[in-house]
Amino acid sequence: MLNKGAITLKSRLLLAPMAGITDLPFRLITRSLGCEFAFLEMISARSIVHQSGKTGRMLNSCEEDSPLGAQLLGHEPESLLEAMDKVLPRGFDILDLNAACPVDKVVKKGKGSSLLKDPKKLQTLLAAMVKHADLPVTVKIRAGWGSTSVNACEVARHAEDAGISGLTLHGRTREQGYSGRVDYNIIRQVKEAVSIPVIASGDALSPQLIKKMFDETGCDAVAIARGSLGNPWIFRDTMAYLEKGVIPERPGPDELTDTMLRHLNLSCDFYGEKRGVILFRKLFAWYVKGLHEVRQLKDLAFKAETRQEMQDLMESVRSYTYSHHEGYYEGFALTC
Ligand SMILES: Cc1cc2nc3c(=O)[nH]c(=O)nc-3n(C[C@H](O)[C@H](O)[C@H](O)COP(=O)(O)O)c2cc1C
Repeated sequence: MLNKGAITLKSRLLLAPMAGITDLPFRLITRSLGCEFAFLEMISARSIVHQSGKTGRMLNSCEEDSPLGAQLLGHEPESLLEAMDKVLPRGFDILDLNAACPVDKVVKKGKGSSLLKDPKKLQTLLAAMVKHADLPVTVKIRAGWGSTSVNACEVARHAEDAGISGLTLHGRTREQGYSGRVDYNIIRQVKEAVSIPVIASGDALSPQLIKKMFDETGCDAVAIARGSLGNPWIFRDTMAYLEKGVIPERPGPDELTDTMLRHLNLSCDFYGEKRGVILFRKLFAWYVKGLHEVRQLKDLAFKAETRQEMQDLMESVRSYTYSHHEGYYEGFALTC
């Protein structure tokens, strides 16, 4: 799919980077359900250079966690190149630069989507990274800074001139954050403006919406982000929908429980029991969304402190039923 060091994805679907979410346990679960390519969460180039313990763990991977992309957050060539020297020996398949993060404290320092404001500067930064790397370098961008400064085509052309191998476009502006609808037009325009592969991002929440993204933009692949929260089956479901037009049945409470148990164990093994359980609380709430009268169970999960307590709550999910009989994705599909 990507030029240089070509990576071909049969499904044309990948797991988007999500800070605080796409850690090794999350990636292993999605991969076991059909995800072919995943990104780590973004990592600050500076913290890699200063080798913080947390950063070291964020970069951890294993044999089954492949192919894999790392994403750097930074705006100074020196720290980005220094971070690359530390990251590249770990054998990632793609190195991505984040020019999309909308968070205040990030953009105030000139990083993330702030880089969209100066496409030439971004080009220089990317050209330095491409020159320094022996693997495909990509960039993640947004439609633009605000509704009056949508410049994704210009940014994409400059990025292509820098020699990158592909780009991901989140079809919202920085101003929009994560609200409002994704703009399919800007993604189509960028796809037409460059000849490198374009990965589309935004509202990839259901197989129907992902098909709509392919149909309306002509993009080469779709990055799935929020749609995978509590629903790692979205990869399997979307592949089936794109191939046969049919979405497999939603996993029953037993499969849901077994998947949560596996995910919890991976999390506790990776972070240690205490942190693994705390981090799993929000995941539990996402997994059980849609089960009938599940409020009390979620409240208990937010108080759980040990692996055993969390496992007991999961086991009780086996006797729950879903509140709605229609397909899981119906609510999202209505927004198509
Ligand atoms: C909790 C969360 C964390 C995110 N972290 C990152 C990140 O580290 N790097 C990045 O490029 N995008 C990040 N994103 C953006 C997603 O990759 C994606 O582009 C965005 O959510 C739009 O897709 P969606 O509407 O299908 O969720 C994050 C999104 C969410 C919800």
